[in-house]
Amino acid sequence: MKHLLTLQDLSQKELFDILDLASELKAEVKAGKKHEKRLDGKTLGLIFQKSSTRTRISFEVGMYQLGGYPLFLSGNDLQLGRGESIKDSARVFGRYLDGIMIRTFKQSDVEELAEYSGLPVINGLTDYCHPCQVLADLLTIKEYKGGFEGLKAAYIGDGNNMANSLIVGCLKAGMSFAAGTPKDYAPHEKVLDFAKGYGDKFTLTENIYEAADKADVVFTDVWASMGQEAEAEARKKIFAGYCIDDKLMSVTNPGCMVQHCLPAHREEEITDKVFEAHAKEIFDEAENRLHAQKAVIYLTMTDEAYKK
Ligand code: CP
Ligand code: NVA
Repeated sequence: MKHLLTLQDLSQKELFDILDLASELKAEVKAGKKHEKRLDGKTLGLIFQKSSTRTRISFEVGMYQLGGYPLFLSGNDLQLGRGESIKDSARVFGRYLDGIMIRTFKQSDVEELAEYSGLPVINGLTDYCHPCQVLADLLTIKEYKGGFEGLKAAYIGDGNNMANSLIVGCLKAGMSFAAGTPKDYAPHEKVLDFAKGYGDKFTLTENIYEAADKADVVFTDVWASMGQEAEAEARKKIFAGYCIDDKLMSVTNPGCMVQHCLPAHREEEITDKVFEAHAKEIFDEAENRLHAQKAVIYLTMTDEAYKK
């Protein structure tokens, strides 16, 4: 796997290979073993043009545990923040680093970085998608449910970067998917086009009860994403009711999981009661960022199979 720019770029086999390696790496950690330092001597640049808790920590710790060096690069401190172009910065990065993880606004910037740096590039979130998070979500579902076939996933809220990656990842893994989003806040057109290929396994509705009906896992995310702070108050009105609460959970299948990428806004997209009732699953999901990210780092930055 050369890059991880979007989940659309992965075949189902590549997706499952990432999840399998993540499970293997997790099992080593749980057994108290240290990984072999296969990334010794390699440096992964971590460029953040937006805030982060989980993404930054999971990539820094993950790179360290694999024997490599994680170099945190704040967008504000780089000349990128003063207008140096992506195209020029990318060619400079290519002279020093062995890989780049970037969190930024425009998806096209991530693609340009991949084109000009000559390095493996990992998308750590853009306005368009959040593939790394969804790999952790799929790993959590695999652990709790034992697989994906025959399961229904539902997403309630803004048709944002999380919705876009969840639709692609869950459909690709073999689940059916229903998105419940307000009119004018539907997922991206390109993702809706992708989902068309899955026929009646995908539905889009404004009715959250229809979306959550008989779901095996329900996802949500914030009503205002990073970069949309100025719209936050207006969005509270638009999204009112697009909330995972007890009433919504009552239409789901027994044992339905709740997943939230975090950070969460309690009493907005999810009630405190539902959040706390599903806290174990949600924090397992957060932990799985580390295991999933290590698999992505390994598969993009090396050519060898993990086990020799
Ligand atoms: N879920 C997620 O990406 O969290 P951070 O914004 O804290 O990295
Ligand atoms: N949709 C959120 C996800 C945060 C992990 C955002 O982009 O801010």
